[in-house]
Amino acid sequence: MYNVAIAGATGAVGEELLRILEERNFPVKKLVPLASARSVGREVEFKGEVLKVKELTCDVFKEEEIDIAFFSAGGSVSAKFAPCAAEAGAVVIDNTSYFRMDPDVPLVVPEVNPEDIALWNKKGIIANPNCSTIQMVISLAPLHKEFGIKRVDVATYQAVSGAGKKGMEELFEQMRALFNFKLDKKVEEREVFQHQIALNVIPHIDKFMDGGWTKEELKMVNETKKIMHADIQVAPTCVRVPVLRSHSEAITIYCEKDVDVDRAREVLANFEDVKVIDNPEKNEYPMPIIATDTDYVYVGRIRKDLYDPKVLHFFNVADQIRVGAATNAVRIAEKWIE
Ligand code: HSE
Repeated sequence: MYNVAIAGATGAVGEELLRILEERNFPVKKLVPLASARSVGREVEFKGEVLKVKELTCDVFKEEEIDIAFFSAGGSVSAKFAPCAAEAGAVVIDNTSYFRMDPDVPLVVPEVNPEDIALWNKKGIIANPNCSTIQMVISLAPLHKEFGIKRVDVATYQAVSGAGKKGMEELFEQMRALFNFKLDKKVEEREVFQHQIALNVIPHIDKFMDGGWTKEELKMVNETKKIMHADIQVAPTCVRVPVLRSHSEAITIYCEKDVDVDRAREVLANFEDVKVIDNPEKNEYPMPIIATDTDYVYVGRIRKDLYDPKVLHFFNVADQIRVGAATNAVRIAEKWIE
């Protein structure tokens, strides 16, 4: 049994972590919810018990004898407190981008590169990849093994939950304002997204970097190589859509070998945590309303390119708070204790 801390316990991912640790019956001896000083005293529930949130400090990990510390409170919080947690002897499973590209920190999707968990002890930290990367590499891994992927073009359709609880609230507020259910806010009022998100799509997530690429897009480029241990070229266009909590991705893979749709369906269906929904005759394919609140990456619309026998197209969907964040973190912890 383990003493487990969650830094960022009152956020969207923190709340989901509590649910998933309980659902998966993770061997928790003591659960310590942590947050910044302004959330201290708020209550969270775990296994029917009401727990008061404590302040996240450097000392709390030693005081509470924490074995496993999940961090989901933003990069600057991880930068400040994750090293203290590791120094106090905890394994840190960090959901932020702060340590992801550090060569001494493994970046892990347990279905794809579980062997990298063994490197955790270099810094005491294991990084959880970005949500859009996680669901993509879970669908790429079996196809890479079968056909040898050289290049990936991907367009994402990312849910507002990727921007946290505030992003979800902003979509709700704007929808209410649009439909006049609530008159004290205007649809133009916004804090989280760069433009109105209700009834819109925004081809811009996180800040712009060199060459017109966004930080979100470059995360997919760099993290994919690190997780898959392969020099796969990735060209993403990341788009925010007014969907609540499941990200979708339209993916094209360019392979070394000729692709085969039936074989692609077979290797995907046999891969851990993937479900194939692909029946055009019955209008069956993955959608956010199917994936939401589940732990699977759904894949469908699998088809060969019209021109090049080495090119395959498909569409995937997964719940970004679960598969793309909290469930992946708990799966890492499960492998770590194995
Ligand atoms: N960066 C992602 C998004 C969240 O904005 O959708 C993934 O954790």
